[in-house]
Amino acid sequence: MDPSKPGESAVQIIRELGGLKPALGALRGAGDTLALVPTMGALHDGHLALVAEAGKRAGRVAATIFVNPLQFNDAGDLARYPRQEETDLAKLEEAGCDLVWLPSPDQLYPQGFATNVSVRGVSERWEGEHRPGHFDGVATVVAKLLLAMRPDIAIFGEKDWQQLAVIRRMEADLGLGVAILGYPTVREADGLAMSSRNALLGAGERRQAAALPAAMLNAARRIGAGEPAELALRDAREALVAGGFSKVDYLALVDGGTLAPVDNASETTRMLAAASIGSVRLIDNIAVTSVQQSGG
Ligand code: PAF
Repeated sequence: MDPSKPGESAVQIIRELGGLKPALGALRGAGDTLALVPTMGALHDGHLALVAEAGKRAGRVAATIFVNPLQFNDAGDLARYPRQEETDLAKLEEAGCDLVWLPSPDQLYPQGFATNVSVRGVSERWEGEHRPGHFDGVATVVAKLLLAMRPDIAIFGEKDWQQLAVIRRMEADLGLGVAILGYPTVREADGLAMSSRNALLGAGERRQAAALPAAMLNAARRIGAGEPAELALRDAREALVAGGFSKVDYLALVDGGTLAPVDNASETTRMLAAASIGSVRLIDNIAVTSVQQSGG
């Protein structure tokens, strides 16, 4: 919302594809730049931080809420995904969003839809291995959202580090002309990365979930101090199982740009993790800096 434009206090809610173009045209009428925050709803403070950042980067802010069936490789996961549209819209309005588009699946994927955006390389390991088809679904829907809304900027949380790498690659390859920005992960007081999936954790599971960032931070410190990554990651895996995680899909040291595994910390190193507590699968990532680089 633009405080210099009195009388424009309410967020515009668009459900019909036909209404989107005129609404965006009116919104950008004065030549304002537009920043887009694509979401799947079930909004938390991490999403609202993206909206706040969008407001600093552009004259107008739009968001989308769409639980994208194409990116769920497990029908149960899609069915369980939290949905809270009314609360989400209130939060977006409060955060200063100007326009929210809530497309229906048939608007984005009309009868006979047969196009798939697939990004090779960065999408193939980690989440790509464990969730076949997931990144095709993400790249396809993000390409469609960017083409429909034509923002100047689109902002994504760094919590989904690999997703961000896939979207950057897709945008550069297709030449969509949208600046893709990452925003640092927002965390709960105990370090757990904010995620819509956290709402699916029972109270005991929620307490146990803090073992994930704790194990990752401990391993990152050890690797940064020069200990062999293999050893630190093995201990972290053991700490997760001891802390109540039922399954660790991966816990890896990678180059933050290519997502290829590395043995030592450098300026661009990230630690990536995916692990489950019961039926809830959590992902996270952090920077891993060597003591020499951080100067300490
Ligand atoms: O990160 C998400 O919420 C989704 O993957 C995205 C980028 C909105 C695409 O559906």
